[in-house]
Amino acid sequence: MKESDLKDKIDINKLPVHIAIIMDGNGRWAKKNGQPRVFGHQNGVKAVREATEAAAELGVKYLTLYAFSTENWNRPAFEVNALMTLLVQTLRKEVQTLNKNNIRLQAIGDLEKLPSKCYRELLEAIEKTKDNSRMTLVLALNYSAKWEITRATRLIAEQVKKDTLKPEDITNEVFANHLATKDIPDPELLIRTSGEARISNFLLWQIAYAELYFTPLFWPEFRKNNLYEAIINFQNRERRFGKTSEQIQT
Ligand code: FPP
Repeated sequence: MKESDLKDKIDINKLPVHIAIIMDGNGRWAKKNGQPRVFGHQNGVKAVREATEAAAELGVKYLTLYAFSTENWNRPAFEVNALMTLLVQTLRKEVQTLNKNNIRLQAIGDLEKLPSKCYRELLEAIEKTKDNSRMTLVLALNYSAKWEITRATRLIAEQVKKDTLKPEDITNEVFANHLATKDIPDPELLIRTSGEARISNFLLWQIAYAELYFTPLFWPEFRKNNLYEAIINFQNRERRFGKTSEQIQT
């Protein structure tokens, strides 16, 4: 179907405010094309651009991309280095485009443990785009949900120890305010590419009520139309939040 035809099927008044994506399948896509894994990551950047552009054009307010998990350090050093280099290059190259499109960059994860060059480049890109307001692009880097939840628990425990917070005052909201995503609304739609139906330690707290959408496409194959398809699918679902269907319809 033509891009514009599919786009027209989206109800702009019922857009998910926050979309999160587990970008998976770069390696398998490269293999399928007889290329090294790094080639897959390089082509993954193209898909990052498409998804970001499509989301911003529609009016989605937050787009979170799982770019590097705390478990990804276990990959061969060569691949980890290539991913970090690609990240630095992409940030450097795309800051202008982000500014031109009024997109703010943010990052979640154990960022200080990134290679220093990468960390510095990231902070610079965040600083340079901080006043943009059309959409926030959140990169999850050296991120895992268990890291984030453990960290929040530690921060809260320290306050209890210091007597600045009472255990009975720890609510859902207090807990959420200690997560890396504290100023970001929960994702309403979570997309994973490559046919895997797993969450892989991504935003475990925040996706409590997210709609999950799995596509067999490998990440480098993902285009604007595929984001539109995911959103249309999302809009055709009934979100009940624990209520009955009748309660929702009245
Ligand atoms: C998953 O494919 C992808 C990643 C672990 C990295 C994603 C990185 C990019 C798309 C490029 C850089 C990103 C930014 C934001 C500049 P995989 O390697 O797990 O694929 P496989 O499951 O087929 O092996």
